[in-house]
Amino acid sequence: MADIPQTLAASIRAIHDYPKPGIIFRDITTLLGDAAAFRSAVDELVRPYADLAIDQIAGIEARGFILGGAMAHQLSAGFVPIRKKGKLPHTTVRVAYSLEYGVDEMEMHVDAVKPGDKVILCDDLIATGGTAEGAVKLLRQLGAEVVSACFVIDLPELGGRKKLEALGVEVRTLVSFDGH
Ligand code: PRP
Ligand code: MG
Repeated sequence: MADIPQTLAASIRAIHDYPKPGIIFRDITTLLGDAAAFRSAVDELVRPYADLAIDQIAGIEARGFILGGAMAHQLSAGFVPIRKKGKLPHTTVRVAYSLEYGVDEMEMHVDAVKPGDKVILCDDLIATGGTAEGAVKLLRQLGAEVVSACFVIDLPELGGRKKLEALGVEVRTLVSFDGH
């Protein structure tokens, strides 16, 4: 059988000098559009959590919605969107988070999770970890237990995994790329 991380890595398109010179953008639309690769990625993401009675998958806008929705269905869990500010219609909690340059804010509905809910955080990629760190803060503010955080892609040189682990969050990733 083919090596799953290698097959998944091969299904992710590298776009050089996007969005600016020197950056390699890891484009998962090619993975999502490949039926076998998409199924394999979701299967691998959910596998460690199958027996943990997870209540909710929290997906980070935007690509975390696609993967997190599929994970929630497969685990028979609920799905909670973590959105950029101003997008959610009901009362929210909001947190500022750091990007490579500058800061932004994201939100969750106040009643999206209940205290004690077992939640898995999901996004397509972890780089510096600023986005995921903000999401963990929101979930914890509402009393959820962040059981784990999972990502298809890790860029280990940017330190995101270590940042989340320092917060006491288990991190699972499927493929790693060197450089940006
Ligand atoms: C990308 C990626 C992650 C985040 C990771 O999203 O999808 O959400 O960056 O970066 P970090 O670990 O350094 O915080 P982006 O901010 O480009 O927004 P998008 O998903 O809405 O395109
Ligand atoms: Mg994102």
